[in-house]
Formats: sequence, C-alpha cells, structure tokens
Amino acid sequence: MAAIAKLPSESLTTVSRIMMPMDANVSGNVFGGTILRLIDEVASIVAFKHARKNVVTASIDRMDFLAPVYIGDLLRLNASINYVHKTSMEIGVRVEAENPLTGDVRHTGTCFLTIVALDKNGRPSPVPPLVPETEEDKRRWEEAEARRSLRLQQIGKR
Ligand SMILES: CC(C)(COP(=O)(O)OP(=O)(O)OC[C@H]1O[C@@H](n2cnc3c(N)ncnc32)[C@H](O)[C@@H]1OP(=O)(O)O)[C@@H](O)C(=O)NCCC(=O)NCCS
Repeated sequence: MAAIAKLPSESLTTVSRIMMPMDANVSGNVFGGTILRLIDEVASIVAFKHARKNVVTASIDRMDFLAPVYIGDLLRLNASINYVHKTSMEIGVRVEAENPLTGDVRHTGTCFLTIVALDKNGRPSPVPPLVPETEEDKRRWEEAEARRSLRLQQIGKR
C-alpha cells in the first residue's frame, strides 16, 4: 500500500536552548560543534515526523557560522522538510541567537542535511511523498532538488 503524502507543515519543528558554560570555550563563545549537534537533533526530529521510521544522517552540507553565539544566548533552530526522493529527505535548519535581555535576534547560520529512512534491517527504506503547499514550500523543493543533484555529483553517486 502506498504511503500517504504529507505536507511540510506537518513536521515543522523548533527547538530552543539557553547556551550554558559547558556549550562554550573559556571566553564564552559557543562551540560550532554544540550548534551542529543541535542542528542534527532538530533535523532528525523533522525526519522522524515525516517518515515515522528510524532515520540516520547521510550528509550535512557546508555550514558557515555567520555571527558568534555566547553563553546566555537563547539559541533557536527552525527546521523543515524541503524535499524527498525515494528513501532520503532534505531538511533545512535556520539557526538564530537571541539576546534574552534585549530581544535582539541574529541569524547565525543555515544548514541543509540529507537524512535517510531505514527499515528494520537497517537498509534504506521508502519515505512518504511530500506535497509542497505554499509558494515558499515550492521554492524550497526546487532549490533542494538542485542541491541534491550537485551533492550526489560531488560524491560520485550520479
Ligand atoms: C546513509 C546510508 C544509509 C546510505 O546507504 P547506501 O547503501 O549508500 O544506500 P543507497 O545508495 O541506496 O542510498 C540511499 C539514499 O541515500 C542517499 N545518499 C546516500 N549517501 C548519501 C550522501 N553521502 N549524501 C546524500 N545522500 C546520500 C541516496 O541518494 C539515496 O537516496 P534516495 O533513495 O532518496 O534516492 C549509509 O551510508 C549509512 O548507514 N551511513 C551511516 C549513517 C549514520 O550512521 N549517520 C550518523 C552519523 S555516524
């Protein structure tokens, strides 16, 4: 039986965390690795919600850290599913840091991950179709399709 198609809005996820001393170096700058771990976590939540199967991260695209994040900042990660192929999904994560005292918000980076659904034997397994609904969903789908093509070319899978 074919899986029921889903909308991007059904798996939208936001995670917020206050940055603590253990997340940062001795000068108070948050480690890139702390942010990457949270990106991987929120992207996995979106993938789980869409696929309702076990999922693993196959790749994380280039990530630029556009502005520093400090201890005490509220880190907010907004994640959505952009595209699906047979067993893989592209999830986009936008990262923002908010100064909780002033409310000032900085966009600190955006990252795209490819996450693959697995069956009970740990082999890639089909995911439900995705129906882009809004104009923004459609733009994200088209851009993700182009990125997938480039990505697979770069790793010699196409
Ligand atoms: C991801 C993984 C399941 C892919 O397995 P594989 O045997 O290469 O499977 P396939 O070639 O059939 O590819 C399956 C899908 O993954 C995609 N894919 C595989 N490697 C990829 C990569 N490096 N980047 C992006 N997509 C990738 C393929 O395009 C395919 O997508 P599609 O079915 O939607 O067309 C496998 O490499 C793996 O288990 N890696 C470890 C994942 C992991 O543990 N991550 C956590 C951090 S260690």
